[in-house]
Amino acid sequence: MSGRKRVVSGIRPTGDLHLGNYFGAIKNFVELQDKHECYFFVADLHALTTHPNPDNLAQNVKHTLVVYLASGVDPDKATLYVQSDVPEIPELYVYLNMIAYKGELERCPTFKEKIRQHPDNVNAGLLTYPVLMSADILIHRAHYVPVGKDQLPHLELTRTYARRFNNLYGVSVFPEPEPYHFLGEPIKVPGLDGTPKMSKTGSSEKGVIFLTDPPEVVQRKIMRAVTDSGPQQPNMPISEPIQNLLTLLRLVGGEEEADFFVEQYKKATIRYVDLKKTLAQKTIEFLKPIQERIKEYENNPQLLKQVVEKGIEKARESAQQTMELVRDAIGIRKLY
Ligand code: TYM
Repeated sequence: MSGRKRVVSGIRPTGDLHLGNYFGAIKNFVELQDKHECYFFVADLHALTTHPNPDNLAQNVKHTLVVYLASGVDPDKATLYVQSDVPEIPELYVYLNMIAYKGELERCPTFKEKIRQHPDNVNAGLLTYPVLMSADILIHRAHYVPVGKDQLPHLELTRTYARRFNNLYGVSVFPEPEPYHFLGEPIKVPGLDGTPKMSKTGSSEKGVIFLTDPPEVVQRKIMRAVTDSGPQQPNMPISEPIQNLLTLLRLVGGEEEADFFVEQYKKATIRYVDLKKTLAQKTIEFLKPIQERIKEYENNPQLLKQVVEKGIEKARESAQQTMELVRDAIGIRKLY
């Protein structure tokens, strides 16, 4: 990534954030804000597809902002805002809906998964979810989008809509945005329950480590993590649940320790209880400073307000510049 580029990403305010959100998305935000023009937001409109209770929604928007700040996203470097505060986004969503086809949206793997999970709530917002996400990204004509692996199908559609818009109107308004991850390509942070993705909806709470989990809860969840019966002889391939624990250990800063346990596994001398104890200790150490800062920001609503007010202004300025180009390309021009 050379030169100063525009970067956009968002998180849905659907509850407490977890290590998957942190290592899939937020850690990238902190890294990118030093080098690029960054826009990070709370995707409250996207959260409406599952009809949250209004008080919970408001609370979760606040929590998501607090976590951004506590994780090191700096409002002096990056623009931080709430999606619904930028009316240009729903306007762009309307235009993009005209070039988004039903078939391609129905084929989107995340849509298929959602209709399996909630067959009684297959609303139009769910179908066009990737179009709204494209509007979020294209509104700032982004070059890079730091996200976890699960978001790649949406990003592919965003690239399609950028290309389609440019071709249809014979303009080059939108770059085709690319995914970004500090490890090279987007990752899936695994769960503790043997599942490949840590997620509130996919796996049970037992498999998820929330950023706000107190040390004893982290300890308990990790000590109960799914394992297997252990290697029966040297040089056996490492099973998925153990690989998951090793991946988590590396992410929370236990690179050397993970190498040690891989060696132990190869020799068939590994003791899972030691692996779990080390993972718990490293995770607790990793979370401690974030949790301290979460508490500080939670007690400072005035600061949150200031951050958001400044963010809205900057986000709308960028959004308005894009919308002038978009309206002009489409032919929506003022007669007066
Ligand atoms: P959401 O709110 O489900 O998740 C927020 C971010 O966390 C990442 N993530 C993970 N990454 C790795 N491993 C995991 N186990 C894991 N779980 C969650 C997600 O990939 C995501 O980056 N549609 C988006 C929100 C959104 C958005 C956008 C993102 C709306 N508009 C524009 C980027 C750009 C979503 O539902 O993320």
